[in-house]
Amino acid sequence: MCGIVGYAGTKGAKDVIYSGLKQLEYRGYDSAGVLVVEDGKIHIDKEVGTVNKVDITSLPGTSGLGIGHTRWATHGGVTKDNAHPHTYGNVSLVHNGIIENYEDLKNRYELTTVSETDSEVLAGVIDYKMTTDNYSLREATVRALSECQGTYGVLAVAPAKEPGTLVAARSGSPIVIGVGADKEYIIASDPSAILTTNKMVFLSDGEIAEFKNGTMQVYDFASKPKDITEETVETEKSSDDLKGFDTYMHKEIFEQPDTLKETMRGRILSEGKFNLGGPNLTNEQIKSLKSIFIIGCGTAFYAGQSVKYALEELLDIPVVVEYASEFRYRHAALEADNSVAIFMSQSGETADTLAAESEARRRGMPTMGIVNSVGSTLARSVSHGGIYLHAGIEKSVASTKAYSSMVVALLMFGGFLAEKRGLPLSDVRQLGTDLLDTPREIASMLESFEDIMTVASEVSGFSNCFVLGRDTLYPVALEGALKITEVSYMHAQALPTGEMKHGPIALIDENHLSIVLMPEDKLMYEKTCSGIQEIRARNGKVLTVGSRPAKGGLSDWHIPTPMTGKNISGLVINCALQQLAYGIANSLGRNIDRPRNLAKSVTVE
Ligand code: M6R
Repeated sequence: MCGIVGYAGTKGAKDVIYSGLKQLEYRGYDSAGVLVVEDGKIHIDKEVGTVNKVDITSLPGTSGLGIGHTRWATHGGVTKDNAHPHTYGNVSLVHNGIIENYEDLKNRYELTTVSETDSEVLAGVIDYKMTTDNYSLREATVRALSECQGTYGVLAVAPAKEPGTLVAARSGSPIVIGVGADKEYIIASDPSAILTTNKMVFLSDGEIAEFKNGTMQVYDFASKPKDITEETVETEKSSDDLKGFDTYMHKEIFEQPDTLKETMRGRILSEGKFNLGGPNLTNEQIKSLKSIFIIGCGTAFYAGQSVKYALEELLDIPVVVEYASEFRYRHAALEADNSVAIFMSQSGETADTLAAESEARRRGMPTMGIVNSVGSTLARSVSHGGIYLHAGIEKSVASTKAYSSMVVALLMFGGFLAEKRGLPLSDVRQLGTDLLDTPREIASMLESFEDIMTVASEVSGFSNCFVLGRDTLYPVALEGALKITEVSYMHAQALPTGEMKHGPIALIDENHLSIVLMPEDKLMYEKTCSGIQEIRARNGKVLTVGSRPAKGGLSDWHIPTPMTGKNISGLVINCALQQLAYGIANSLGRNIDRPRNLAKSVTVE
């Protein structure tokens, strides 16, 4: 989604900003812009489309002050006028987040804006405070922000009045400052955009940093100077190297045998013993746990769902999985005693997940993170540590390798808790050794790629499908349906296999595809075959995925998967569905890595 990069220093601001914005591209955006300040004047280029379209050669190269942005449209369409930076009077700014009361502010200050954005209104209010009330840029920004409802990470300059000053403020949207050599500061919404230093200062909500004359000072909103703490953050830089694959989704699906090894490295010993250093729960807390909450959005939510059954069986306590956007309003759940809330996120920047975590923490719940992005806001906010996935940067909007690593990380956490709670060691060791097998099983599933592509091309003509799963395969069906929908735009609806007959079966005819996930368990297999009979009796088409096709030749297509046992069969079937989703999208010529309307990291609520 939206990304911010700014620079205050002595080198050419435009190059630093441009390279930082390139790093943020994979998060999804629809327009971009760069503004530099020279001789008290602004020089700007902003364009609809990719960062490459911004012509930085048209901007002065010697400027040491500037701001840049990648925008994902929220208020107002995808147009050049709506792209950032925005200028109103003397003030230019870039903004992440949403100013919810922007229409009130626009009316109150009688602003005439060029764009349809809330951000330009914010620039107008800051300009008003500087021009009419004579405040400095920092004071005017604080006063304007104090009247705003919503979230923001904002960088502002006002060169006609304060030629060498840049301010950065935060409430709800992250701002991190890279402290370079020679009085050089790179300010960004994500540490990965800071390329030249790993010394960083993270602004907290309600703080504003002022950069002028080669210095940085952080203040609270009451203008009290704050001490700053520099941290060393080792971020991974994103690379454009597709390593011979045609898309990032394709590459990331194939990286899974390696990324799973990284997720487990040093955390499961060869005899299946769990060794996790990240979770900061005391033995007392672990022993007295009465329930576990798992919270996330999209694929992270489904990863939680797919582990729920296994954790409940292993730990014998309820495991509740909630959408982050809903959890924050579940007041009773937020006050559960003897509980821990685990927040799952690839990016660690998803606004709904951050808001839910902050509410849970505020109410005294211990919070943990299962996060891929090192140093992200979620990883830094949780109260009781967590587990980094170490899956490497995921660039495709459709999450694949982060999903499998999340499932494995959660199962490892379950094994770790079970061991500490003194539960049957044989089950725990079995889980550990099964997990150590996943890279090999996933590698074997990937060998079917060409066959899956053939099936994908044959089913790509359907406009609608069900993805049906029973028991532990129902969450796998949910994730599979999401993947198919987001990259191919085929409408896919996941259902528990047994629910079909309670209504959805009305949709079945010869033009409707049902993708049925086949359980290894004999009883479940038999029940699933009965469901398939009901579909075939109504002329519906059936694609089965699993270690066995439907009995009696009822599958129109079948994708065979290895027989693996209950702990990891869901992961292997998921890998087949990831390939199927990719294949259908490929057959339909979709823009697989950048599906329409989607962003990699959803940083607005
Ligand atoms: O970065 P997060 O894991 O918090 O992202 C959550 C969802 O936005 C994300 O999983 C989304 O559903 C993906 N596009 C799914 O492929």
